[in-house]
Amino acid sequence: MRRFDGRVAFVTGAAHGQGRAAAVAFAREGAHVAALDLARPLAYPGYTMGSAGELASLRAECEALGSTCLTFEGDVRDGAAVAAAVDGTVDRLGAVDVLFNNAGICAYGRLVAAPETRSTKMGSQPARFKASSCNRGS
Ligand SMILES: NC(=O)c1ccc[n+]([C@@H]2O[C@H](COP(=O)([O-])OP(=O)(O)OC[C@H]3O[C@@H](n4cnc5c(N)ncnc54)[C@H](O)[C@@H]3O)[C@@H](O)[C@H]2O)c1
Repeated sequence: MRRFDGRVAFVTGAAHGQGRAAAVAFAREGAHVAALDLARPLAYPGYTMGSAGELASLRAECEALGSTCLTFEGDVRDGAAVAAAVDGTVDRLGAVDVLFNNAGICAYGRLVAAPETRSTKMGSQPARFKASSCNRGS
């Protein structure tokens, strides 16, 4: 008996990094996986986001572990895209038992010095400022 046998785990930011590692770990523990990712570049912060190819390879990796893996391309800031992914998951897999809401970006610099364009782009983006980075350049 594995820890998540028959459960459905919904993971955002699942194409690469920690989200992908979590999605594979859920599959290894018996969960079916719904993987949502932006799957396209963002102008800000400028480092590499996940891709459609990575979502496809995640699906293959989960399936090799015996798990069903649904993939969705969408932005967690887009409520309609998230609702469609959740509805699609419930339709296909019956439920969402676990949510790992991991999607986000890291921004570096002093929050008080962030230009308006950056603040606007961050908007509802679930960005995390590292405390250590906030002191950089001060
Ligand atoms: N790695 C670190 O040192 C660190 C430190 C603090 C916080 N975090 C946070 O932990 C989470 C995972 O970190 P990581 O290093 O694996 O990040 P990562 O950049 O390697 O992966 C993040 C994934 O989320 C996706 N994503 C980003 N914005 C999205 C959006 N709006 N909608 C849908 N998908 C989106 C990206 O395409 C990417 O696949 C992130 O939220 C990150 O901000 C990471």
